[in-house]
Amino acid sequence: CGIVGYIGKRDVAPLLLEGLQRLEYRGYDSAGIAIHASGTGKAAGLKTAKAKGRVRELESRLPKRFAGTTGIAHTRWATHGAPTDENAHPHLDAGGKVAVVHNGIIDNAAELRAKLTADGVEFASETDTEVLAHLIARSQAEKLEEKVREALRHIEGTYGIAVLHADFTDRIVVARNGSPVVLGIGEHEMFVSSDVAALVSHTRQVVTLDDGEMATLKADDYRTYTTEGSRTSAEPTTVEWEAESYDMGGHDTYMHKEISEQADAVDRALRGRIDDRFSTVHLGGLNLDAREARGVRRVKILGCGTSYHAGQIGAQMIEELARIPSDAEPASEFRYRDPVVDPDTLYVAVSQSGETYDVLAAVQELKRKGARVLGLVNVVGSAIARETDGGIYVHAGPEVCVVSTKCFTNMVVSFALLALHLGRIRDLSVADGKRIIEGLRRLPGQIDEILKGEEEVRKLAAKYADAKSMMFIGRVRGYPVAREASLKLKEVSYIHAEAYPASELKHGPLALIEPAMPTVAIVPDDDLLEKNRAALEEIKARNGRILAVAHQEQEKADHTIVVPKNEPELDPILIGIPLQLLAYHTALALGRDIDKPRNLAKSVTVE
Ligand code: G6P
Repeated sequence: CGIVGYIGKRDVAPLLLEGLQRLEYRGYDSAGIAIHASGTGKAAGLKTAKAKGRVRELESRLPKRFAGTTGIAHTRWATHGAPTDENAHPHLDAGGKVAVVHNGIIDNAAELRAKLTADGVEFASETDTEVLAHLIARSQAEKLEEKVREALRHIEGTYGIAVLHADFTDRIVVARNGSPVVLGIGEHEMFVSSDVAALVSHTRQVVTLDDGEMATLKADDYRTYTTEGSRTSAEPTTVEWEAESYDMGGHDTYMHKEISEQADAVDRALRGRIDDRFSTVHLGGLNLDAREARGVRRVKILGCGTSYHAGQIGAQMIEELARIPSDAEPASEFRYRDPVVDPDTLYVAVSQSGETYDVLAAVQELKRKGARVLGLVNVVGSAIARETDGGIYVHAGPEVCVVSTKCFTNMVVSFALLALHLGRIRDLSVADGKRIIEGLRRLPGQIDEILKGEEEVRKLAAKYADAKSMMFIGRVRGYPVAREASLKLKEVSYIHAEAYPASELKHGPLALIEPAMPTVAIVPDDDLLEKNRAALEEIKARNGRILAVAHQEQEKADHTIVVPKNEPELDPILIGIPLQLLAYHTALALGRDIDKPRNLAKSVTVE
């Protein structure tokens, strides 16, 4: 979900709509806006508009007279209650005095709702958020800040909120607990958002609130304080990403733009980090000295979705190059299975947004148990980046398309850097260090070479787009690549896909193989080449269609996408890229909403 708010001198509705558009990738079930309308008599006061669907839907529904200079808005990804007009934020109290937008989940909403209902309060929506509006409105406290504070005392759960009150037209009050709130500092105007994406076109001076922190925004100043009321001194920082990097840059979709800019992104991840003298890399923020690194006996990587798959490739790299037993696990599973937390294990939390709730919660649980946790994160200053003991920024730049492409690639490159770093502290030879460094340096050029073959992939996508279901296979290094490619295809094209280790085919999934179930096979030129070829034979013998991604034409395949060869440990980075294009062009051929696939959101900040 996304929050945006503004207080200043400009007409607020167009500003908020523009902000919402920038946040749409965070949720797009419904949207809404509340403003302090200017004017006198009936024209004045708190006014709202809401609509199920996209922001443009809301825009078309705004009343003619909807002028004001203070307002808050929201774009929603439904958790409690279906996406309807009523369930769209902002939520109001019964008297229409308080408007609240909220990200997160109020765990005790049902209980609070029952109490309020027993007191005669009538609810207008099914959302958990609405209880907040009623609680704030019912508070007897004098100041708005106190009313909000009092209401929050009743709340269990996570929130990032922004509040307007009809009796306090000079301010917006915001609060954060587990869901991001960022203030944007302008000239005689203030912004607030859950994401800098909505701020950068106006200001790059931001203040990120901590959990348990609140703020009051007025046109000319802001104050931050804890939910207990004591002042805090949050200093503004400058956002590193340029406003233009959030634009589509001449592409029709963000997905296409983000796939296309991967050579630059990888270059950025490498820049300033390679140390040729010692055939290693410098990772300034890692916070792990050589002695500590030598003491690591296991590496456990935690992430969700695409980031989890990047972690699987990363684990393979660390195990190969640093010879430390490593594996990746979905953060959500890890959290709930009461894992043994071992002091000699290095934990790595991997996340594009740095906000995914399941990952953040796993980090917090690990920290509580005294573990050492590193972050491999894209968004600088995000919650996971801040909660970890150190880490690596992946420097992919802003990623807007819901399905992750360039960030995935940069995560895997960052894992290669970590593996090389750990390897060179342990037993990786100078020669191997050099070999990997040279391989890393070749990546941007090779990525560009792959992207030049886009037209060929587009034609192939047209050939396979009629499939109802697709199988993706690979072995060892190729298996997580197959998993990610399969996820990419299903997310964006809605074609069912599943990934299997090629070696496991004969233990079950071979039963599915027939002409209507094509297989994408990952066949690198490494020591498993013959084994992979055997899997192609097995499929061909059952009349399966095969699209191979390989370093050379595969005789048994119906089609082969040939990718340039790098070092075997780094090949997964390159092999994944044509498969992003395959997913993209399949979705395009099927007319899908590429940047905003149904039911999904870019950042899942709830459980
Ligand atoms: C959501 C997105 C996925 C993403 C996952 C993890 O489910 O739709 O594309 O991989 O969250 O996000 P993170 O920001 O932690 O990498």
